[in-house]
Amino acid sequence: MRTIVALPGDGIGKVVLPESIRLLEAAGFKANYVWGDIGWDFWCKEGNALPQRTIDLLSQHKIALFGAITSKPKDAAEKELSASLQGKGYVYFSPIVSLRQKFNLDICIRPCISFKGNPLNFIRRSANGGFEEPMVNTVIFRQNTEGLYAGVEWTNPPKVVRDAFETNPKMKTFAHVPSEEMAISTRIVTKKASERIIRAAFEYAKKFGYTNVTLCEKPNVLRETSGMMFKMAKEIAKEYPKISLWDTNIDAQMMWLTKNPEEYGVIVAENMFGDIISDGFAGLIGGLGFACSANLGDEVAVFEPTHGSAPKYEKLNPSIVNPIAMFMSAVMMLEHIGEKEIASKIKNAIAKVIEEGKVRTYDMMKLKGGADVFQLGAVSTQQLTDAVISKL
Ligand code: NAI
Ligand code: MG
Repeated sequence: MRTIVALPGDGIGKVVLPESIRLLEAAGFKANYVWGDIGWDFWCKEGNALPQRTIDLLSQHKIALFGAITSKPKDAAEKELSASLQGKGYVYFSPIVSLRQKFNLDICIRPCISFKGNPLNFIRRSANGGFEEPMVNTVIFRQNTEGLYAGVEWTNPPKVVRDAFETNPKMKTFAHVPSEEMAISTRIVTKKASERIIRAAFEYAKKFGYTNVTLCEKPNVLRETSGMMFKMAKEIAKEYPKISLWDTNIDAQMMWLTKNPEEYGVIVAENMFGDIISDGFAGLIGGLGFACSANLGDEVAVFEPTHGSAPKYEKLNPSIVNPIAMFMSAVMMLEHIGEKEIASKIKNAIAKVIEEGKVRTYDMMKLKGGADVFQLGAVSTQQLTDAVISKL
C-alpha cells in the first residue's frame, strides 16, 4: 500500500487536510498516512518550523499532502520563540518555501479551471448590456525555487556585495546611498531551471490538448532574467509546432485577465510572477477556496491548496472554510500517482455539489466569514465534505 505524508501545518490546514483524507478514503483510495510535524508550533518550541524528522519522512515516502502554514515577519517570529530559545540566533524560514528548495520542487502547477454553476465565477458585461460567463481553463506553471523568492537578499549589504554591485554602471543611481540605508533582493534565473519549467509547461499543453503556452514575464525591463526565459521559450517552442507560444508582460497580463481569460491555456513564469498570475486567475474561478497546486521535483511531490492558514477562522468550531482547494490538490496527487479513476470520481462529485448549489460554504454564498454564517444558510467544512462524499 502507498504511504502518503500528511502535513497539516497551522490554522485551517489542520481542518482541510483531515477532511480531504476522509474524502480520499470514501472514494476508495487505499493508503497509509503518516503525519509530519511542520509549522508555527515547531518554530516556537524547537526553533525550526520544518524539523529534520519531517524532511526524513518525505525523503522516504516521496509524496505529501500539505495543508497550510502561518508565517510571520522576522521580528514577530523571534518574539514568539520559547523563552529558552530566544536570542540564540534562530531565524524563521517559511517551511513550505524550505520544502520546495530542499527537495528541488521546482515545477509548481496551479490549475485555474471554472466549475459550472459556481456563483463565484467571473462574469463580464457583453456589448448588448447583458453578461457572459466565460469558462476559464488556464494552468499556471510557476518556477518554484529561484527568481525573486530564492532568498538572496540583504539589508545593509556587506562591502563585498556592495562592491560587486558597483561593477554595474546602473548602480551610479545609488552611489550616494549609504549601505545602511539600502536593501537588496536579487532575481536569479538559471538556464537549467528555466528550461525545466518551460518544457514542463509545453509537455503539459501537449498532453492535455492546450493550443497555446504564454510566457508571462517583462523582458523589455528585466532584460537579463526575463530575457533569458524568453529566449529559452522561443527555442523550446520550436519542438512543439502545434502549440503557439504567446508572450505577455506581467502588468498587461493582469489587465487582460478580465478581458479575455478564456483564451489562455498554459501560462509559464518565474516564481514571483507565477505567484501573482496564479492568484489573479484563481480570483476568476472562485478565489482561494478553489485554488489548488502541485509542487513537483524529480523525486518528491507536495500537493497543497494555495491559500494560507486563515488565522481569522482557525478558532471557529465547526469550521466555515471551503475545503475544495485542498480536495482538488488531493485530486492532483491522485492524477500524479496514476489513480486517474478515483481522481475523476472525486472531481465529478465536487462538480455535482457545486452545480446543484444546495450545499455551499460561506465564501460561495458571498458572506462575510464568521460564526453566524450557518444561520445565513452556509454549511460547515465538514458538511461540504459530507455532500461531496454523498455524490461519489
Ligand atoms: P490566507 O490564504 O490564509 O487567508 C486570506 C483570506 O482568504 C482568509 O481570511 C479568508 O477570507 C480567505 N480564505 C483562505 N482560505 C480559504 C478557504 N479555504 N475557504 C474560504 N476562504 C478562505 O492568507 P493570509 O491571511 O494572507 O495569511 C494567513 C497566514 O497564512 C499568514 O501567516 C501567511 O504567511 C500564511 N500563508 C501560508 C501559505 C501556505 O501555507 N502555502 C500561503 C499564503 C499565506
Ligand atoms: Mg500566493
